[in-house]
Amino acid sequence: MKSIRTDIGYQECINVACRARFDVAEPLFECPTCGDLLDVRYDWSQAVLPKRLNDFEAKWAVPGDPLAFSGVWQYHELLPFAPPQNVITVGEGKTVFQQADRVAPYARMNVGRLFLQYEGMNPSGSFKDNGMTAAFTHAHLVGATRAVCASTGNTSASVAMYAAVDGRIPAIVLVGSGKIAYGKLAQALDYGVRVVEVEGDFDTCMRRVKEVAKELGIYLMNSLNPFRLEGQKTIMYRVIEGLLWDVPEWVVVPGGNLGNSSAFGKAFQELREMGLISRLPRLAVIVAEGADTLYRIVNQERLAWNDGRVDDARIAAFYDQMDAENRRAKTVASAIEINRPVNLKKCLRSLEWTGGLVEKVSDQEILDAKARIGAGGFGCEPASAATVAGVRKLRDAGVIDADDRVVCVLTGHPLKDPNITVAYHTLDDEVIAEKYGAYGFTKAPHANRPVRVADDLDAIVAAIQA
Ligand code: F0G
Repeated sequence: MKSIRTDIGYQECINVACRARFDVAEPLFECPTCGDLLDVRYDWSQAVLPKRLNDFEAKWAVPGDPLAFSGVWQYHELLPFAPPQNVITVGEGKTVFQQADRVAPYARMNVGRLFLQYEGMNPSGSFKDNGMTAAFTHAHLVGATRAVCASTGNTSASVAMYAAVDGRIPAIVLVGSGKIAYGKLAQALDYGVRVVEVEGDFDTCMRRVKEVAKELGIYLMNSLNPFRLEGQKTIMYRVIEGLLWDVPEWVVVPGGNLGNSSAFGKAFQELREMGLISRLPRLAVIVAEGADTLYRIVNQERLAWNDGRVDDARIAAFYDQMDAENRRAKTVASAIEINRPVNLKKCLRSLEWTGGLVEKVSDQEILDAKARIGAGGFGCEPASAATVAGVRKLRDAGVIDADDRVVCVLTGHPLKDPNITVAYHTLDDEVIAEKYGAYGFTKAPHANRPVRVADDLDAIVAAIQA
């Protein structure tokens, strides 16, 4: 074992009735005592912390600091479970935070108040790399020899990339057959991991992957793994950094398996506990109408974290009802086509800590917003666009103020799912309605249609001048 920081870190069950503690050196993805989710926690009095957040800048100014190479590990003081010399990094997290004045009007925000955090700029093209660098680092420290994940695509691409770069922990990825966008599948195949296409959807894969991890003793890379979420906290540190160490009024994130929303709440709560920030932003988690478990649980069932006393029986009854009605997630945003988000309870906790809320948007709203985000630069995949669509809706409802500072986290790169983008911009509305009507996607008002012309100069000039 390579000196994992057992002096500072430990794992703790989130269930207030359990609160069992475990060593950080144990590879766990659920509480061995009660089966609930685990947190990585720290004895901050043992850690070396900056006095103010902008002290980080002086540290980064030291030439040649290998940790400053990574947008995650440049904040290693805030996730101090690994000795700095042992981190496994590919330079993840060097992403773009941008004031998006060309997208702000679409989101009905005042100019200067909408910001986009482009996590698609990560090496494997999604925010997952923030978490995977932390999980791979932990896997090494605990002597893992193989890694496995279930995925709607991006997790598999990220796991595959780290496995390929590192070369010491071969990986296996489980994906629902026909349920993964081509850009993501292409990555997993190209990086050379074993891709197992399971008959079924993401939820099937998620259930199976836990069994596989236990049966074969393979290290689990899904966001059930609390070390993944430690890495994803840094997305929020970079948002604060982008605002010159200030906290926005809103952070808006798409909700799928709810790892990000869980990690973001923890990031802010810890910073407040350390006295490094004085207030938390409000978290808005946006789900697809066709994959709305969280929306129903929060806004209809009125279930809440309730200071740690979550009503588990009602959550179980909710899922029983879902199965009885044979309700299955269905959205063009395949990244978030999930029925049973594994981090549900941690997300409820983040919502309580931040005074957060949940909104849902249709696939039509998602794809329209995606076209406008793309036209504003960089772009994103469908799931990410739920954020801007959500802001527009929350503005119309008067929940968000046009002058609030709102940060949307764009979780994945536009090239992850080129098929739906090309369909949006090239197909006639009737064809769209025929092909995608079942998703509620029927027209493309923001399409940028290619102009088809003959091999003829006059025709080409006419097309350009039109
Ligand atoms: N956006 C993208 C692009 C994603 O790939 C995912 C999740 C989410 C949002 C949802 O994030 O789970 O933290 O709420 N993708 C997972 C995967 C499930 O397997 O790649 P979350």
